[in-house]
Amino acid sequence: MNIAAPDRYAVIGYPIQHSWSPFIHGMFAQQTGQNLTYTRLEVPTEKFPAEIARFFDEGGRGLNITVPHKQAAYLFARHRTRRAKIASAINTIAAQADGLLGDNTDGAGLMTDLTTNLGLALENTRVLLLGAGGAARGVLGPLLEASPEYVEIANRDGNRALDLAEEFSRRGNIRGCGFDQITATHNFDLVLNATSASLQNIVPPVPAAVIGPTTLCYDMAYGVGDTAFTRWANEAGAGRAETGWGMLVEQAAEAFLLWRGVKPDTKPVLQAVKSMSAPDTEVPKVR
Ligand code: ATR
Repeated sequence: MNIAAPDRYAVIGYPIQHSWSPFIHGMFAQQTGQNLTYTRLEVPTEKFPAEIARFFDEGGRGLNITVPHKQAAYLFARHRTRRAKIASAINTIAAQADGLLGDNTDGAGLMTDLTTNLGLALENTRVLLLGAGGAARGVLGPLLEASPEYVEIANRDGNRALDLAEEFSRRGNIRGCGFDQITATHNFDLVLNATSASLQNIVPPVPAAVIGPTTLCYDMAYGVGDTAFTRWANEAGAGRAETGWGMLVEQAAEAFLLWRGVKPDTKPVLQAVKSMSAPDTEVPKVR
């Protein structure tokens, strides 16, 4: 009997040992009957170009790219999807006959979670986006394409927010400012935390007046239970506060679709990751 070797995939980042991606893609593979392996590669910045080249030279089929390599990977890919070009960052690479294709599935993952899973209609909404780093950049394009009334970007370093707003200004109604200049005269419909402050257990200094009883507060970070941001949002009376599990699973499903041509069912995977306290180090067995 001729049993084909599984196709190889991995997530590359630094640090990487806590990544849930092997677990998520393992569940996707099991569910869709795809023959693949998915591992973690811990690679520091200075070794990134050599390691990524080696992975594909040795026959690897695809990579997910995470912090801090998303912008470096953008320069590495030979071809880029439209959404990757808009973000100037990539989180997914697929090996193709004519070279490496770079994609960015973060924004699509967030949008699917907000609209399909959480039922938010973004058209004509007022959005406050906290943070102006790679995570914010990755989601701005799809966010603006959903036609919100406007997006206000607020960042600790206000100049970074101004620059990012300027870069995306032709894609929609957008302004940038420091945390102390946030429009606090009304509630926003959506307050999106794209800072890495939750990882330090810190809440960005945002006036509670931006939150009202119908506001959805969404932290792109995730962990067991609440993050500092979702805790703060609930205390401030937000209509709803969500952590970023859904975005994590949905961006993975988009990457899986690019690689394998089949879209997995995210519901059971989302349920599984939310109910666990740490990713299984063992990837579920694939066929
Ligand atoms: P990422 O790829 O996760 O976005 P990044 O590009 O380093 O990483 O950006 C981190 C973001 O979190 C930035 O917006 C950063 O604010 P500055 O641009 O002012 O540095 C924000 N951030 C990090 N720690 C923060 C904290 N303690 N309070 C508020 N914002 C913070």
